[in-house]
Amino acid sequence: MQDTSFAIHPGTKKQLVGENFKEVGRLKSYSVKDGVVSLITESGFASISIFNENIVRITMNPKQEPITKTSFAVIGTNEKITPDVTEEETELTIKTSKFMLKVAKDPLRISIFDKDGNVIVEEETKGMAYNETGEVVCFKKMEASDHFYGFGEKTGFLDKRGEKMEMWNTDVYAPHNPETDALYQSIPFFLTLRQGKAHGIFFDNTGRTHFDLRTEVDTYSFKAESGQLDYYVFAGPSLKDVLGQYTTLTGTMPLPPKWALGYHQSRYSYESEEEVRELANNFLEKKIPLDAIYLDIHYMNGYRVFTFDHDRFPTPKALIEDLKKAGIKIVPIVDPGVKEDPEYPTYQEGVRGNHFCKYIEGNIYFGDVWPGNSAFPDFTSTEARKWWGEKHKYYADLGIEGIWNDMNEPAIFNDTKTMDVKVIHENDGDPKTHRELHNLYGFFMGEATYEGMKKLLNGKRTFLLTRAGYAGVQRYASVWTGDNRSFWEHLQLALPMCMNLGMSGVAFCGPDVGGFAHDTSGELLIRWTQFGTFTPYFRNHSAINTLRQEPWSFGEDVEGLVKKYIEQRYVWLPHLYTLFREANQTGVPVMRPLVLEYPTDENTFNLSNQFMIGDNVIVAPIMTPTTSHRVVYLPEGNWINYWTEESLVGNKHHLVEAPIDILPIFIKEGTIIPHGSVKQSTATPEDEITYHVYLGEKSNASYRLYEDDGATFGYESGVTFEQEVTCEKDDKTITISVKESNGSYDPTWSKETFVIHHCDASVEVEINGDVIDKGNKIYNESNKTLKITIQR
Ligand code: GLC
Repeated sequence: MQDTSFAIHPGTKKQLVGENFKEVGRLKSYSVKDGVVSLITESGFASISIFNENIVRITMNPKQEPITKTSFAVIGTNEKITPDVTEEETELTIKTSKFMLKVAKDPLRISIFDKDGNVIVEEETKGMAYNETGEVVCFKKMEASDHFYGFGEKTGFLDKRGEKMEMWNTDVYAPHNPETDALYQSIPFFLTLRQGKAHGIFFDNTGRTHFDLRTEVDTYSFKAESGQLDYYVFAGPSLKDVLGQYTTLTGTMPLPPKWALGYHQSRYSYESEEEVRELANNFLEKKIPLDAIYLDIHYMNGYRVFTFDHDRFPTPKALIEDLKKAGIKIVPIVDPGVKEDPEYPTYQEGVRGNHFCKYIEGNIYFGDVWPGNSAFPDFTSTEARKWWGEKHKYYADLGIEGIWNDMNEPAIFNDTKTMDVKVIHENDGDPKTHRELHNLYGFFMGEATYEGMKKLLNGKRTFLLTRAGYAGVQRYASVWTGDNRSFWEHLQLALPMCMNLGMSGVAFCGPDVGGFAHDTSGELLIRWTQFGTFTPYFRNHSAINTLRQEPWSFGEDVEGLVKKYIEQRYVWLPHLYTLFREANQTGVPVMRPLVLEYPTDENTFNLSNQFMIGDNVIVAPIMTPTTSHRVVYLPEGNWINYWTEESLVGNKHHLVEAPIDILPIFIKEGTIIPHGSVKQSTATPEDEITYHVYLGEKSNASYRLYEDDGATFGYESGVTFEQEVTCEKDDKTITISVKESNGSYDPTWSKETFVIHHCDASVEVEINGDVIDKGNKIYNESNKTLKITIQR
């Protein structure tokens, strides 16, 4: 009935946010203990604590003093800074070296200012409230100039102003369209950009939450169906500062193994060992780079996790070893549902070890997924997570180094699409219903899997891909955006979705390249692969019963172009890897919306169809059929077309040519970009790094390259390599200096090449004090580049 006009029957009128909510009322008393300011109001309890110099935590519970235990998303240290509290007749003032909070007493309103008195967040007409059904809500003033980013994995455009969003991890096979709201990930965190300055809010509630930036013009709200209000305010003042502050709280991504950054090929499913070997051979014979092949659910015996179907895959260990020798890793899918089968060891262990989710009455919860009736590990229990993690010995012993977690919302084939919300999670002695912890299920499965594999791999980095997650998921996994379709619209959708995932702490993300469901076309595959070259995670995946979409599926012309852009991935890898390191250290994403770099340029505020890789490369994919040009916005400065060397002035929209073989890329003048070589996989060591120097009208540029072994955790203890390249130009000379610093890793390359763009033939070049002989300079008259190679 919901897909007929019955859906808009008068009886379905919904309650608006704010209806039936009761404010917490007048402040009756307050106290300060251990740095926490506790507030008791007419009908509620609240607390304010200064988590660290840049983060304030606010909680509210209508029934009792707020619970101060944080969710598992939070790993940052609470510095418990004791503020200065002064009381006046109508308000309290709470001061630290960076913040000032004003707490109006009647009715209670909390507003936060920076140390100079500029408002960060403000409560005006409404504050914190609750209703009898147990919902809690918080209202904040919304300025006309506010723009909103983050919110994890959402459809729609980049700027979320005017949106209403729900967080409830959901398996959405179809459709993903502008009104599809709750998807697989729930990251209740956002950044507000106001007149060039930014702040952020993380609403740490693991049940169903809602964000309403639409209903009222000057107020927005966030509300939860269960639990208490518990949110953090990040002071900024820049968007990058907020990302740094948020990832101080929830963690940054560990460096993935380098092979995880290569090109990956998947299909639901490669159904036999023979098919997988043939697939790998095709890549090798056609010299199309490849780092991983995925095994979807058909590899298992009756979809039982931790098994192989030996009819289809008679010798998995040999398969995995042989492919590894060829530089290709195997990544198997592992879903949470464990088949109910008393003769199946994993099921037996789960029952006997008390690891499965249960009802309060003690009976195991069963749900229907791929294997049929299945039980689900209670990942909220440390014991169950340990058990699950150790079970991965099965894969590690076969030589597997990466795992793909799917269906972990958890997805169940029933009307609600998930587990009965009445199920009780053990939660290490603090039992809670599934309703309260739903959004944490995939996150905890990720923790169990990542930590288990990490231990089993003995110092080698592991790779985990997950569909579901919560704030902090970046600590364990890369995220792909689930079951998209082979529609041009879904290619378009992937840009703002991935940019906002990046703005939500998840730097390592990407969509199914080519589209998962529906049939792709050769043209769409080319354009999508061009985009994939620059998505942090790069995997081609397609569904059962759809057209094949391996690179060669549409004839030689398409194959050639798909191959060209897979190769480009390896060419750009040194830059991407350097940016992965930056994300690992600062929380600033690899793939960035332009607004992150140009927060005062209004043309960037909702720019959803182009993005940046780092701070000086703009990528503008073609995302409509039979299109050979597009409009590109270039912010202030001069930009150089990567393919044509044409100079373009910024602060301007340009119409650029993009025939089918061209993905438009623009480099800002005053930039150096490192390139690697085309190779079969990341297993082939890099033998040459090429620095492309784009000075244009600028007189200098610099780049700090990051490298390490790409395989171990040595980087955490200084087994790293950093190379600072600077380039200066005066009338006649270009002076390059190359300095190596920081760490004990010795990189594999022996040659370093410098390509100076927009350069005169007569220019003198000096590298580290040596004037380069004419004979060692190669000048290309047609594109005005000068090339010099030195031995490292
Ligand atoms: C889900 C996943 C998809 C996978 C399929 C079969 O739909 O999102 O990627 O191929 O299940 O396992």
